[in-house]
Amino acid sequence: MDRASAEPSVRSVPGARASRWVEAHHEHAAPSTHVYEFVWDHTAPAAGPFCTDVDGNVLLDFTSHVGAAPLGYENRRIREKLDAFDVPDPAKIAGQDFYVAGGEGGPAEPEFPGPTQLQDRLADRSSDYGLDTVFLSNSGAEAVENAIKICYDDTGGRRGITFEGAFHGRTLGALSLNRSKQVHRHTFPDVGGIVDAPYCDDAGTDPGTCDCGFFVDGGDSSVLRRKLDPNAGHLPADEVAYIIVEPIQGEGGYRIPSDPFLEELSDLAALHDIPIVVDEIQSGIGRTGDFWAVDHGPIEPDVIASAKALRVGATIADSDTFPETEGRLSSTWGAGDVLASLQGVLTLDVIEEENLLANATARGEQFLDLLADADLPGAVDVRGRGLMLAVEFDEKERRDAIVRECFERGLLLLGCGYSTIRFLPPLDVREREVSMGVDTFADAVQAVRGVREH
Ligand SMILES: Cc1ncc(COP(=O)(O)O)c(C=O)c1O
Repeated sequence: MDRASAEPSVRSVPGARASRWVEAHHEHAAPSTHVYEFVWDHTAPAAGPFCTDVDGNVLLDFTSHVGAAPLGYENRRIREKLDAFDVPDPAKIAGQDFYVAGGEGGPAEPEFPGPTQLQDRLADRSSDYGLDTVFLSNSGAEAVENAIKICYDDTGGRRGITFEGAFHGRTLGALSLNRSKQVHRHTFPDVGGIVDAPYCDDAGTDPGTCDCGFFVDGGDSSVLRRKLDPNAGHLPADEVAYIIVEPIQGEGGYRIPSDPFLEELSDLAALHDIPIVVDEIQSGIGRTGDFWAVDHGPIEPDVIASAKALRVGATIADSDTFPETEGRLSSTWGAGDVLASLQGVLTLDVIEEENLLANATARGEQFLDLLADADLPGAVDVRGRGLMLAVEFDEKERRDAIVRECFERGLLLLGCGYSTIRFLPPLDVREREVSMGVDTFADAVQAVRGVREH
């Protein structure tokens, strides 16, 4: 496929083969979060954000597999290395019980980088915050689980602070921190002691007049400050093991926190000596135009949880925060997927070598300009940072109809929050592809308006 001239081209979705695959898949699959009947054919042509489904439809993928394929399809650098890589058996190894090396060269320049190099790169990228130690795992939820575990261990606290709209994963510990949709937690038992507070996303609004519910006393204080106040509050600060926050809320609706909100968290963390955990699982690894989304804001993390774009999970902190005792943390597959850790390292290298942070910033600005100029009936807000972008609509039904209409026109998008559509193109997305995507999206919004008004 020639990326320079590729275009979405759809006969019908879902086609006959896609329907067969979806039906077969669901015969024994537990209900989960599948969005639409898009069945990617990984043997068919693909390039950048373009891929082909099992019926030969060409699609423009602005989901990047929910950010888990940050370089889109068939990235040249990764392809070259994969072609040279003779997949070993076992490819998935017990990597926290044994060590692994790939071919010629020492750890500084191995022929095939792996978990050791991934840890080095992440420590390097987190050195501004003094975080030099990494625990690799399998998923975002595990990265969060281990982040809160090390905070419980390090502080001796038994409580945690999370925010309205938060999403941190679906294992029981991570689940207890969620405050987005009821369906995630309803009837499941909680890890105890989790307190929540509003998440202020009223950017540009003065804390004195902001109506997010976080600030009180004309902006001079916050509900969290009151809770932690030793004289007036009910939450003893020495019992709090962490404050966990998404630097941009993902599942909760691509909500961008205000600076005063982050400043207040930073102040409270310093005042009460509470570690800040940032969940960068969706927002990290260049998505927002900085390596970590937290790099934009007035807040310093003590622990970073990463996954998705990294291809594995990672909990990053300084060495003192991790338990000294061996065996407190471990996971058979944690660092053990030779292929995934290789792809993780290459992804970080491509982001650096191809200057993709700058590309994410420039293309994100183009995206926002085009969306601002487009006629989007029903849209109530357009927002984003880098290539983590969203359009919020007036109602969920409209949002769902637009996502479906885009699919039928060959543009893959996802919802988030209640009535919001998110855009996560690959980090190397090109100007032509952004224009094409926004045009298709705007046409779909107009088409849905037509349907809804009849
Ligand atoms: C911000 C955030 N945290 C945690 C998770 C959980 O990651 P995983 O699905 O890999 O367990 C997600 C997944 O969408 C996420 O977006």
